[in-house]
Amino acid sequence: MNNEKRSGFTGKIGFVLAAAGSAVGLGNIWRFPYLAAKYGGGIFLLVYILLAVTFGFTLMIAEIALGRKTGLSAIGAFKSLNKKYSFLGYLAALIPAIILPYYSVIGGWVTKYLYEFIAGGAGETAKDAFFGGFISQTGEPVMWFMIFLGVTALIVLCGVEKGIEKVSKFMMPVLVVLSMFIAIYSVCMPGAMAGVKYYIMPDFSKFSATTVLAAMGQLFYSMSLAMGIMITYGSYMKKEVSLESSVTQIELFDTGIAFLAGLMIIPAVFVFSGGTPEALGKGPSLMFVTLPKVFESMAGGTYIGILFFLLVLLAALTSSISLMETVVSILCDKLKIGRKLSCLIVFLISVALGLLSSLGYGIWAEVKIIGLQFLDFFDFISNSVLMPIVAFFTCIFVGYVIKPKAIADEVELSGKFKRKALFTFVIKYLAPVCIVLILVSSVLDAFGIFKI
Ligand code: PFF
Repeated sequence: MNNEKRSGFTGKIGFVLAAAGSAVGLGNIWRFPYLAAKYGGGIFLLVYILLAVTFGFTLMIAEIALGRKTGLSAIGAFKSLNKKYSFLGYLAALIPAIILPYYSVIGGWVTKYLYEFIAGGAGETAKDAFFGGFISQTGEPVMWFMIFLGVTALIVLCGVEKGIEKVSKFMMPVLVVLSMFIAIYSVCMPGAMAGVKYYIMPDFSKFSATTVLAAMGQLFYSMSLAMGIMITYGSYMKKEVSLESSVTQIELFDTGIAFLAGLMIIPAVFVFSGGTPEALGKGPSLMFVTLPKVFESMAGGTYIGILFFLLVLLAALTSSISLMETVVSILCDKLKIGRKLSCLIVFLISVALGLLSSLGYGIWAEVKIIGLQFLDFFDFISNSVLMPIVAFFTCIFVGYVIKPKAIADEVELSGKFKRKALFTFVIKYLAPVCIVLILVSSVLDAFGIFKI
């Protein structure tokens, strides 16, 4: 992502699909369904969608426009517009560095499942004890994690900009079709309707500040917001491509896949585990425990399973590539080192941090930081603390330093800005106030000072 030879996306579809390639990943297929299951189903979905069309839309427009306006990635973009805000670029850049290692641990789990399905072990994966048994081992999960991270590093090393666009163009539509197919199957299983109801009908008695916090953290994560990624992608975007409609399409893609993933998984939890709070609250293991059961019950399920885990793996790879690319390019620029050395450094640091996350499910299960195991801790720090901070300052920066008009002018280079009033209101008032409230309550909650 060198500024002198910014390659640029070929057109609107290329841009939208590549940005969607970064956005759509494990966040949608693995993380969204387990959060939705845990935080009340329909109410979480409703809050998420409301946040997506207000906060998500506003922040994504702002980030992409910042990138396109300056032609620079996060650190350079903030700095070039106001020197005092350079810190924001650095803070944003820290987030992918924290996410990449544990993202790769989960990517490793997906790789292992793909391997099992290909090697004829699909039936084994459908057993209740399989997942827990696998992740609590020492050697195997670490091996799959290193494979996933190694492949990511290799692709990043070879330079990936053109590749990302090509892969995404092909992969995204296939992912949509396959997700629809599995979701329809899941919904049609006997006993699934209770799950569909739980997932779609909001139960307002389940609403709490935690729901909003979880939904907001998920929104940033899923749409790759508040970490400089969309600024970088925006810097590759052509001036004549419509920014507003591109953002709408990326959001639709991202939310659509997340919605379908919930529809694949949550009704299946009701079918196979009776939809008890315990089964719904399973957290990170939900996808790995529930989906193999769905595949086992399907005619030809092994083949669908292979295809599914392959697509999840590719979706995870396009996301992990964008995470690593961001960190590597920043190191190259800042330390004035070559791409190879920078890749090696990022790889080694990620191995070390990823080891903590992986072994945190096994031999180091007793080690806890503020009551959380390593993987959950990294997830908490990035999603519930750093991302809201970056999002808050981005709002202040756009709302009061460069002013919303600067962004609106950029958007209007490629057509009318239809939701300008919404954008201005959210970025100046609604978003900063809500983010602060939510951030404070989440941190107090984590330290057990104040229970929401
Ligand atoms: N948005 C990705 C997902 O939902 O899986 C995760 C992600 C990718 C976050 C790239 C951040 C990022 F820079």
